[in-house]
Amino acid sequence: MRVVEAFRAAFGADPETVWHAPGRVNLIGEHTDYNDGFVLPFAVPWGVTAAISPRGDRTIRLLSLQSPSAEPVTITRHEDSEGWTRYVVGVFAMLGDQVPGADIVVDGDVPQGAGLSSSAALEVSVASALDDLHGLGMSPMELALLSQRAENDFVGMPCGIMDQAASALCQEGAALFLDCRSLGSRAIPLDLAAHGLRILIIDTQVHHEHAGGEYAKRRAECESAARKLGVAALRDVTDLAGALERLRGDERRRTMHVVTENHRVEALVGLLRAGAVTEIGALLNASHLSLRDQYEVSSPELDVAVEAALRGGARGARMTGGGFGGSAIALVAEDRLDGVKESVAAAYAERSWKAPRFLPAVPGPGARRLLPS
Ligand code: GLA
Repeated sequence: MRVVEAFRAAFGADPETVWHAPGRVNLIGEHTDYNDGFVLPFAVPWGVTAAISPRGDRTIRLLSLQSPSAEPVTITRHEDSEGWTRYVVGVFAMLGDQVPGADIVVDGDVPQGAGLSSSAALEVSVASALDDLHGLGMSPMELALLSQRAENDFVGMPCGIMDQAASALCQEGAALFLDCRSLGSRAIPLDLAAHGLRILIIDTQVHHEHAGGEYAKRRAECESAARKLGVAALRDVTDLAGALERLRGDERRRTMHVVTENHRVEALVGLLRAGAVTEIGALLNASHLSLRDQYEVSSPELDVAVEAALRGGARGARMTGGGFGGSAIALVAEDRLDGVKESVAAAYAERSWKAPRFLPAVPGPGARRLLPS
């Protein structure tokens, strides 16, 4: 294993443990997690592998095979960390005195900037390995919550629980239906191949800089709308028409999206349970329109990807993840895959945009130990 060889070369011994945690793609349920709602992500086949040995002191030595430097970074004070190392150091900061320092090598293959949660994969791989090494006995959901706290409180990104939960809990061949309030979850089998279908990830290769600020703004708008409606979270809105009468402008539109998106997640889960996977396309399309027009987190590149995929014969398509760039997904019959790719590629070429990247999405397993096996 490449990460083990690199660990030996950097630290002169074998790592005590090696864990892998995946990135995710979200089938439906966007911007619902921090509104205590429902999400339905699945794990992608790409992720982060972390090789770790504990140290006798509190120092963290950290090497990434994706970083240009061949030398490990040495961190003796958490606040000195920067860039990608903050996701790892944040996990240590949240674990506090329970764990000493460590020597770590990470190797990741989540396509960068595609919005497939490479940061959650990094946090969850390291958190799972540390839990295992030190016998902390944390459940996968507790590891996801710790990783989310690392991102909220240490990195400073006010994300919800979806990405970390998907990375920690997903099962192969299934999507994860998660209630972000109760944190109850269930694996929903997603056997697309049995129906001659595929989910194609269309990576726009564009990521807009203001995404972080807009995310925090959306979250604040939802919280403000919930306060005005006298509910704990937008998940609790039962009379949508009544709620919309009491809200104006952005808060009204955000509420419309969140409430209808929660219904779409439940409807899509119902279809999957009924074996009607061929019927989910309309819900994907409706989700995209709602994210574009009500939640206003799409981008021209995402809209063109979705429209061109549908024109090329996709059965449904939507942006996925936080928005403002990143990826879209399309539900495509196997014999239409080439047509859909051609249609999207041509639409991008016509606009002189950078060519999009196409990635096949097969639901993989969540975090797991690779060594010792
Ligand atoms: C990002 C966040 C998630 C979630 C999505 C939108 O991926 O990290 O918590 O809010 O955006 O659904």
